[in-house]
Amino acid sequence: MNIMSTLTIKNLHVTLEAKPILNGINLILPQGKTHVIMGPNGSGKSTLGNTILRHPSCKIARGTIAFGKNKLSSMKTDEIARAGVLLALQHPQAVSGVSVTNLLTIAIRKFSVKRKDFKMAHFRNDIKETAKALHIQDEFLSRSLNDGFSGGEKKKMEILQLSLLPAKCVIIDEIDSGLDIDALKLVAKQITKLRARGVSIIIITHYNRILRWIKADRVHILHKGKIIKSGTQALAKDIEKNGYSDYI
Ligand SMILES: Nc1ncnc2c1ncn2[C@@H]1O[C@H](COP(=O)(O)OP(=O)(O)O)[C@@H](O)[C@H]1O
Ligand SMILES: [Mg+2]
Repeated sequence: MNIMSTLTIKNLHVTLEAKPILNGINLILPQGKTHVIMGPNGSGKSTLGNTILRHPSCKIARGTIAFGKNKLSSMKTDEIARAGVLLALQHPQAVSGVSVTNLLTIAIRKFSVKRKDFKMAHFRNDIKETAKALHIQDEFLSRSLNDGFSGGEKKKMEILQLSLLPAKCVIIDEIDSGLDIDALKLVAKQITKLRARGVSIIIITHYNRILRWIKADRVHILHKGKIIKSGTQALAKDIEKNGYSDYI
C-alpha cells in the first residue's frame, strides 16, 4: 500500500427521514488497523457504514468524514468506492441478470484503467481461486448475484468482492450473521488476508465469535448513535459474557 490514508470521522450527526440516528460520532482509523463496532440492535451501526458510503437516505446534518485527502462526506458513492473505500452490506441485494463475475470484471476496469500490467485473464483466475478458498461453487459465479442465495452464500459473495477489488478501507457489516462456524472461519481467513495487505477494516458485529480468528486493534460500543466506550479486544469478550447493560 503506497498511500497511507487515515479514516477520520469528526462530530458526525446523521438523520434518517428527519429522525436523528447518529449523534456526534468521532472515530480515527489509521491505515492498516482493524476496529470493531458493537452495539445493541438499532444503535446506528449500519447507518454509520451506510453514511460512510453516502447512502442517499442517510443525511449528514453535521460533521465530516475524510479518508486521507478525500473528503468522503462531500463525494458520491462511486467516487468513494474508487478511492478504495468499500462496504459489505448487512443485507446484500439480489441483482437480477448480473453475475458476480460480470460485476467484478466491470468494477475492476474502473479501478485499473491506468494499470498497464493488468490482465483480465489473471483477474478471472483470481475470482475462481478466491471463490474456491471461500468454498463457493463455480455455478454461483455465473448465476444472478444473490438471486435465491442463502444468507450465508450472500455473505460469502460480499467477502469475495472485497477480496478482489483494490480496497484500502473496508466496512464489514454483520458478516457473521447467517454464517455457520465453518463458513465463518473461511470468511475470517479472507478478512485476515485483507488486514495483512494493509487494508483498514471496520468490523460491525454483535458477537465476539468472529474475533476468535481476527485480531482487532480497538473495539467501540455504539449506543443511541454515540460511541459510549472504546477499549481493547477484552471489551468484546466482556460484552459477550455480560451483555451491554454495564455500559448503557
Ligand atoms: N429508513 C429509515 N427511516 C427511519 N429510521 C430508520 C430507517 N432505517 C433504520 N432506521 C432506524 O435507525 C436506527 C438505527 O438503525 P441501524 O443503523 O440499522 O441500527 P443497527 O445496525 O445498529 O442495528 C433504528 O432505530 C432504525 O429503526
Ligand atoms: Mg445493522
